Amino acid sequence: MNISLHGRALLLGLLLTSGAALAADGAPRPAAGVAEAQRPGHAGIASANFLATNAGFEVLAKGGNAFDAAVAVASTLSVVEPESSGIGGGFMATLHTARGDRDAFIDARETAPMAVNPKDYLNPDGTPNRDAALKGPLSAGIPGEPAGLELLAKRYGRLPLSVSLAPAIRIARDGFKPDPRLLGAIRDEQKNLERWPASAGKFLPGGKPPAEGEVWRDPDQARTWESIAQKGADAGFYHGEVAQKLVDAVRAAGGNWTLQDLADYRARERAPIVVDYQGYKIVTAPPPSSGGVAIAEILNILRGYDLAKMDQARRMHYVIEAMRRAFRDHNDYLGDPDFVKMPLDMLLSPYYADGLRQSILPDRATPSSMLPHESARDPGMHTTHFSIIDKNGNMVAITSTVNYVLGSTFVATGTGVLLNDEMDDFALVPDQPNVYGLLGSKANAPEGGKRMLSSMSPSLVLGKDRSAVIGSPGGSTIITQVLEGILHFIDGDSAQQITAARRFHHQFLPDVVYVEDGVFDAATSAQLQKMGYTLKPREGWGFMNVVTWDHKTNTLDAASDPRRPSGLGKVE
Ligand code: GLY
Repeated sequence: MNISLHGRALLLGLLLTSGAALAADGAPRPAAGVAEAQRPGHAGIASANFLATNAGFEVLAKGGNAFDAAVAVASTLSVVEPESSGIGGGFMATLHTARGDRDAFIDARETAPMAVNPKDYLNPDGTPNRDAALKGPLSAGIPGEPAGLELLAKRYGRLPLSVSLAPAIRIARDGFKPDPRLLGAIRDEQKNLERWPASAGKFLPGGKPPAEGEVWRDPDQARTWESIAQKGADAGFYHGEVAQKLVDAVRAAGGNWTLQDLADYRARERAPIVVDYQGYKIVTAPPPSSGGVAIAEILNILRGYDLAKMDQARRMHYVIEAMRRAFRDHNDYLGDPDFVKMPLDMLLSPYYADGLRQSILPDRATPSSMLPHESARDPGMHTTHFSIIDKNGNMVAITSTVNYVLGSTFVATGTGVLLNDEMDDFALVPDQPNVYGLLGSKANAPEGGKRMLSSMSPSLVLGKDRSAVIGSPGGSTIITQVLEGILHFIDGDSAQQITAARRFHHQFLPDVVYVEDGVFDAATSAQLQKMGYTLKPREGWGFMNVVTWDHKTNTLDAASDPRRPSGLGKVE
């Protein structure tokens, strides 16, 4: 049996352009569901750390809006949750402004240094060098976080950075008690941190990981945020003393950054992906994230089924098959839109989804090996997400990352800046298996100045009666977790129910359904296995942070993932 994909090759030939209009259903875009006049009158913030959530409220109390609060939350997470995101990493933000009812997207993804050389990520025998890709300065892209936060503050916020960065600076300078997850990350990475004196100096005070309950300070990071607060990101980070220290440290440890790489970095505004599903408008991340395209493709496939009328096994069957097809496409086509022409018009078209739907059998799994494809990849596992709605109805979803736990584990001397290991999100070695034994696609091959593909999917779900700000960490599982969160929300679930819901994931290859304990009842599991699915238990699902807004009662609800006890969702 061979399952052909309806017109895929033909459409691809016709549509090899990156479309400016990113509407995912081809229809004229209706006005957002949220009435411009409506204001909640109170605010909700959900993040992975209570200190960061409280920092956001502190800045709201100073007269800031959701976007100023986002600067406070992101910079505070850099201090208190450095294992996931931070000043040496990057982020993606999906925004909705109450005034003007406008949706926007900020891409503060890292870029490859101009001197990037794929050979640096190979062992002498030609096999991938996992250590170079994941640890030390060669694994780090040029950070986007400072430029992105400044762009967010200047274009959308009300307050100067000196106010919105104040909580992070204070917490880094005065100290805080790290939560068990950060302490565990430092213990797990101790050997790598010991490889670089500034990393050991920051994370191993007195030569060992901080003890539980001990106050831990990061005065170097406080000074770097202060430099940005006083001089702006350009003069305070990408040029001048901090830039010189970053480049000196990277080059002394075998990396290849130059001052020009830092000077050339720009955060970008891009048109978000927009898709309508069951009366809701979903606003999500465009490339260089694969997340929004995949979510839109999955929803476009699912709109052809009446899922509410199906039993759980049949419903899961269609959701998994839609995931399988969307991941196949994201592996093959997507990359940095400034470098790669992508068939977005095709991938986001309802006709393309119609064709994919016809390839789904009603009662049987489609083996991934039967779908034509070129490659597959799996980006890193760590990352953080937070969600905010302010009293005026401004909304922001930010997913931020240094990639793997504690990024590259490399701290640049005298800056407190922990560098990301985002270079591993490129297909570093063309036509060679990556560190997961999977082949990478050409669209995501590394080039100087290029952004590596991401799965980050910060999303807004805008409806007439209810709206939500939603997102998750979790590497490639970000996409499916956010999709499942969106479906739960549309089914009427609360923020608490969405964050607590058990999850599952299929990413085309490997051809298995990863399942969280308890996600399917025994009968559903048995039926899915009978249909040909391999179910594989998996731990370590993303920490979702969600804020919802009920427009009828005009109330907000904020929930942080119960899998992460130090998180906090709060409404005030
Ligand atoms: N580093 C994880 C991602 O960007 O998807």
